[in-house]
Amino acid sequence: MKGIILHGGHGTRLRPLTHTGPKQLLPIANKPMSQYALEDLKKAGVTDIGIIIGDVYPDKVKEYYGDGEKFGVNISYIYQEAPKGISHAIRLCKEFIGDERFIVYLGDNVLRKDLSDYTKKFQSSETDAMILLCEVDDPQRFGIAELDSEPGKIKKIMEKPKNSQSNLAVIGIYFLTPKIFDIIDKLKPSWRGELEITEALQLLMDNGNKITYDAVTGWWKDTGTPEDIIHANKLVLDSIGTENQFLIDDDTQIKEQVVIGKDSTISRDSFVSGPVIIGKNCTIGPAVRIGPYVSIGDNCIIKNCEIENSIIMNESNINSKISIHDSIIAHGSTIKDSIVPKKHKFLLGERSQINL
Ligand code: DAU
Repeated sequence: MKGIILHGGHGTRLRPLTHTGPKQLLPIANKPMSQYALEDLKKAGVTDIGIIIGDVYPDKVKEYYGDGEKFGVNISYIYQEAPKGISHAIRLCKEFIGDERFIVYLGDNVLRKDLSDYTKKFQSSETDAMILLCEVDDPQRFGIAELDSEPGKIKKIMEKPKNSQSNLAVIGIYFLTPKIFDIIDKLKPSWRGELEITEALQLLMDNGNKITYDAVTGWWKDTGTPEDIIHANKLVLDSIGTENQFLIDDDTQIKEQVVIGKDSTISRDSFVSGPVIIGKNCTIGPAVRIGPYVSIGDNCIIKNCEIENSIIMNESNINSKISIHDSIIAHGSTIKDSIVPKKHKFLLGERSQINL
């Protein structure tokens, strides 16, 4: 079985974060979100992986994943010149897939449960496609499946319906067979100008093929907006555990699950309340309160502030008596101040400079 990770698209809802790189490389708990997809595929025994790269800094994707050796997989890159839809991206993989069954994983989806059970179920079945369904509060944001009264049967699959009887989202992990390629050839662009995966699945059913589904247990997250990314960070950090590779003063206060990278230091008067992850070579303190639900990347300098429920990326430098919450601060940003404490919320692109 082969795997495909979709790493294209424009990530417009995540600007300015996506002005300097593809959204799927944005970190969740200090790891690019698409790496969760890659690791899920590997865990399910899928090591031949095609990554669809688009026109937003594709070289950054190649630089990070290389030929896959570092991650224990073989990676091929497939170029999509413009984001013409998920089905369009899948169609580009026809040669790469050959006549094998395969899994398509959207690089901005994060799933708690790994794929092993679903993969076994799909491989041992005769089905032409298998989708995973998850209840959502906002069906108009997703592909939605309506179930038939006959148990186990899907009635209809629609893309972002305005009014739907169903709240079962079709999540961005699809188990497919090469039959889908001929189906995609029959599709026309949708109202948003894309070849939709939901329309391909519907047409597959209309042509008499069998599609089965399974329910997602545990959480699943589509990280379309900054709020989604902060929420995904929280969900991943909830099971981060504790790792001690750090140099801290004996009486530094560290509570709950905290992972701290090599050569990072935390001052005696600072307080870290997990779940929190701090990368390598960071200087934390003086007078810092971090947590809960904070990810701090490598080589950061954090002084005199409070940070809660936020993502601070590599090489950021914060030295300010402020309270930061529900924020994303990209790579190499600086925040300095000379005024009284205040609460702040940020969405800062790479190398932003804030002087308060
Ligand atoms: O997250 C699940 C949802 O993903 C499904 O419920 C929907 O049925 C499905 O259409 C998709 O909806 P989105 O509107 O969220 O898709 P988005 O445009 O965000 O693209 C999903 C991923 O695929 C994202 O990582 C970018 C990548 N992509 C997207 C397009 C349109 C590509 O690589 N190439 C593309 O042409």
